[in-house]
Amino acid sequence: MHTPTLILLATSTVAAVLGSTIITTKVTPSYWRATFSHPPFNLMDNALLTDFFSLIDNIAGDPDVKVVVFDSNVEHFFIAHFDVLNPVSPDLLGPAYWGNFTRLANLPVLTVAAIQGIARGGGAELSAALDVRFGSKEKAILGQFEVGFGAFPGGSGLRMLPRLAGRGRALEIVLGADDFDADTAAQYGWINRAIPDNEFADFVDKFARRVAGWDRYGISYAKSIINKSGYPTVEDVYSDLLAFQAAVSQGAVPARLKAFAEAGFQSNVTFEKNLSSEELRFVGPEPWDS
Ligand SMILES: *[C@@H]1O[C@H](CO)[C@@H](O)[C@H](O)[C@H]1NC(C)=O
Ligand SMILES: *[C@@H]1O[C@H](CO)[C@@H](O)[C@H](O)[C@H]1NC(C)=O
Ligand SMILES: *[C@@H]1O[C@H](CO)[C@@H](O)[C@H](O)[C@H]1NC(C)=O
Ligand SMILES: *[C@@H]1O[C@H](CO)[C@@H](O)[C@H](O)[C@H]1NC(C)=O
Repeated sequence: MHTPTLILLATSTVAAVLGSTIITTKVTPSYWRATFSHPPFNLMDNALLTDFFSLIDNIAGDPDVKVVVFDSNVEHFFIAHFDVLNPVSPDLLGPAYWGNFTRLANLPVLTVAAIQGIARGGGAELSAALDVRFGSKEKAILGQFEVGFGAFPGGSGLRMLPRLAGRGRALEIVLGADDFDADTAAQYGWINRAIPDNEFADFVDKFARRVAGWDRYGISYAKSIINKSGYPTVEDVYSDLLAFQAAVSQGAVPARLKAFAEAGFQSNVTFEKNLSSEELRFVGPEPWDS
């Protein structure tokens, strides 16, 4: 969701459409915005992942950029989740998946998730893989809902959440499979802080401009040392992706996902907004009450 501030800024800056699902705006040469623009849900599908990985190439190839803020212009959603109903290409969900995230994490550039909507599943995992996360108190929702349909987070959540939130809270997040508001997510360390929505755009913009003003030398050295505190390995996350793919084809999961799809999963905004509660209708063996 574009904020009034950003629209004002955008009139004086260069906006480039990369593929079609992510709009890159160079607010200044050192401060970029990458806006997920793949309605109605910003699903992580072939198109969005392809554009995301190309964007990483562009960031890596630009000597001036120091900060990239990721946001969304899709109402209600930051990134809803992975496309679970249509197979995502193995070129994108093989070792290349975490390879690209790792490449981004290792660049001397600060990445910021500016979350003013729903970020569940892969959307929560993408946010957690960036360097810094800010959430709107009123609008941000984070959730790992995968255990609720019979699988588990397969795109790094199981590796990243214990690092960010600790073991107990990671288990609560993953096994409860419920939604978290920004205040609770911030208290748990899942996001950096929760900000009232009417102050959100200003706060994020000031932070980004402040960092973008510093010399690259300091940013790069600091990041190289903080880097050593660890990031999940490509091998580990690839094995989680394979395990996730196996999980969605076993037990009741295929039938449940089919029933989900019929009820509105990946098609109905009301269903998607209330997904963590809707899941409760599909507990146990089929047939499910509708
Ligand atoms: C990023 O993804 C692309 C597309 O799948 C792939 O060709 C490339 O090797 C990946 N990069 C890394 C560093 O894994
Ligand atoms: C972070 O660490 C990786 C792996 O050691 C390294 O390749 C990368 O250059 C580092 N990033 C920075 C900004 O120094
Ligand atoms: C969308 O989902 C909601 C909640 O499950 C449901 O009440 C509504 O009828 C659905 N709308 C359509 C068009 O299917
Ligand atoms: C969300 O879903 C639950 C379970 O299906 C239902 O009881 C509840 O009324 C729904 N809430 C909204 C706001 O649609």
